[in-house]
Amino acid sequence: MRKRPVLLVAAATAAVLGVGAAVVGAAVVFGGLYDVASTTQHWQPTYALVETAMRQSVRLRARDIAEPPLADEAMALRGAGCFRDKCQQCHGAPGVAQDDIGKSMQPLPGPLVDARLHWRPRELYWLTRHGIRMSGMPAWEFRLREQELWELVAFMQRLPDLNAPQYADWMRRAPPAPACGGELPAATAAAAPPDLARGRMALHQHACSACHIIPGVTGARVHVGPRLDGIGSRRTIAGTLPNTPENMARWIMHTQQVKPGTAMPQLGVGEREAREMGLPRDLEVRRLRTARRASCGRRPRWPAGRGGARRAPPTCARPEGAGRAWRGDGGPARWRR
Ligand code: HEC
Ligand code: HEC
Repeated sequence: MRKRPVLLVAAATAAVLGVGAAVVGAAVVFGGLYDVASTTQHWQPTYALVETAMRQSVRLRARDIAEPPLADEAMALRGAGCFRDKCQQCHGAPGVAQDDIGKSMQPLPGPLVDARLHWRPRELYWLTRHGIRMSGMPAWEFRLREQELWELVAFMQRLPDLNAPQYADWMRRAPPAPACGGELPAATAAAAPPDLARGRMALHQHACSACHIIPGVTGARVHVGPRLDGIGSRRTIAGTLPNTPENMARWIMHTQQVKPGTAMPQLGVGEREAREMGLPRDLEVRRLRTARRASCGRRPRWPAGRGGARRAPPTCARPEGAGRAWRGDGGPARWRR
């Protein structure tokens, strides 16, 4: 009998506290009370908490990665060149300050001279490959080859032992810029099976979602480029190429050749990524065809990837969203129904 009121009071208290917390949270968010300036520092406890969460997250995710041998001097030397080209600007090096970007970020990218003491090689590999979300540490998975990632790790094993003149000497012997990166050879690109999840990641990692709203890719509500939902129902890509998987890859890799002067920049996308970025489009095309077939009652003859919208039997009902075409003439966004 006495248990009931106690439970009730506890439940009521929890509810009141929960509502209170929600109200305070809403005030902070919608009232703009949280200061997002990079010039304001985190509180020390916040910093410590975030740091610990990051450390544990990396440990957990890197624990099963097999480490290759890293002692080879030539390997570390190639990593040194890559470090100078891709990392020094933010992290600095013995006797070398970081560039302006690296000096004014929040959190500050620390010098990596002591990274070997805090992280195992496989963790350094994981950090470099995947980056650190909400910190400004970029992911290098789509910029560097597997081998180059491990070369960087090999160099980071040497870094704590180098003083400024020794570092300068390593830089003299390291390969000249660009020491790493560049496009994947086509053979490797063709060998790998296309992967939708990787395609979505590539759409983000090549900054596509900075300009386009893309289904399945988190991003801001941007309107710099046309929305890419509905791309499966458009007859042309950027108003110039028939909408086929091959042309999609061609457009993504060579925008400026396909349509000189277009506002969409060429983003250095390799062949494999370009094919994978096209997968959401292929899915949408397939979905629309199925919907159309269902609404038609009979199977329209659409040869795969031939921009078949025009060949479909005219009696078919239009599936939802079909027929919306982007007039990609580089002018302001216009839709035609
Ligand atoms: C645009 C700036 C930038 C560039 C370029 C950059 N980083 Fe970072 N890096 C960061 C930031 C910011 C952090 C997070 C610092 C923190 O959370 O304390 C970080 C953290 C790290 C860490 C974890 C360090 C630690 O001990 O906490 C490693 C390892 C690292 N970076 C490696 C690299 C490597 C290797 C490269 C070059 C391939 C590189 N970074 C290029 C900004 C950068
Ligand atoms: C700086 C902004 C910007 C970035 C980054 C960008 N795009 Fe675009 N994109 C545009 C603009 C602007 C157009 C319209 C170009 C035109 O029609 O001439 C466009 C057009 C397109 C089209 C044709 C759309 C249609 O309706 O015909 C596709 C597909 C596309 N972009 C995919 C991508 C992919 C994939 C990436 C990443 C590799 C990317 N874009 C990165 C601005 C951008």
